[in-house]
Amino acid sequence: MATKADWQDATGKVWARSFDRTDRAFAGLTQIMLERLSAMPGEAILDIGCGAGELSIALATARPHARIRGIDVSPELVETSRQRGAACTNLAFDCADATTWADASFSPDLLTSRHGVMFFDDPVAAFGNFHAIVQAGGRVLFSSFRAPALNAWVTEPSRLLGLPAPDDPFAPGPFAFADDDRTRSILAKAGWREIDFEPVDFGFVVGAGDDPVTDALAFFRKIGPPARALFEMADAAREDALGKIARWLAGKPHDGGVLALPAAAWIVTARKAD
Ligand SMILES: C[S@@+](CC[C@H](N)C(=O)[O-])C[C@H]1O[C@@H](n2cnc3c(N)ncnc32)[C@H](O)[C@@H]1O
Repeated sequence: MATKADWQDATGKVWARSFDRTDRAFAGLTQIMLERLSAMPGEAILDIGCGAGELSIALATARPHARIRGIDVSPELVETSRQRGAACTNLAFDCADATTWADASFSPDLLTSRHGVMFFDDPVAAFGNFHAIVQAGGRVLFSSFRAPALNAWVTEPSRLLGLPAPDDPFAPGPFAFADDDRTRSILAKAGWREIDFEPVDFGFVVGAGDDPVTDALAFFRKIGPPARALFEMADAAREDALGKIARWLAGKPHDGGVLALPAAAWIVTARKAD
């Protein structure tokens, strides 16, 4: 499971080099999030765990009169965001830990995050900080994965590689917020009200192009829980594992050269009292 230290180091570096692949993977979810966000007021928007900045840049472009701030712990991802968002004059990025971040000159009225809030050691404290910095009546809208069993893009490669299930299913990592009752309790303890969960299914694009299976293997070597296991394997074992994943992927539909696997997320919204 990816910790803050992982994101500050190797995992953040890989995601910074692979933002075209991660943005492509999440494209279906991003579109839904932007639709939901477009219905919400927001003049000062904070994107938590902004990664390579796609959501921040989309918001800055859609709302030229709003101020957008992206925050992330990975220096490489923040640098990538700054380069990608250089044309937006209403956009800035900070490299910092969002769980303790505050800036007296930036008081957000809307917080958002595409899958950037599941990696905190103390989620109640983190969401308590978000509650403290948002304006009265302000809102949060974030996405996170639903149960692993609904996310074949990760469960099947993990099974093929023989990876054990984590001891703590809610340890910091992609599935830390999979259980809506647990997440509701975290947000409520942190002071949030009007907590709501929308289940969203989308196609997680792992490969595309003339040879989407080979492209997908390159994805799995970089992104997601199986990537570390593949990296740590001896060459022969890795080739064997990649062969198993390739055979599984070959049986999946490749509509128009796009190989997308089932993925399931929550879009969680909540509000701070007036
Ligand atoms: C799964 S990635 C999502 C990145 C981006 N939101 C996207 O959709 O591409 C999780 C992000 O959360 C960031 N992150 C993890 N812990 C953090 C923390 N304590 N403060 C700020 N960012 C954090 C990571 O560096 C990473 O960029």
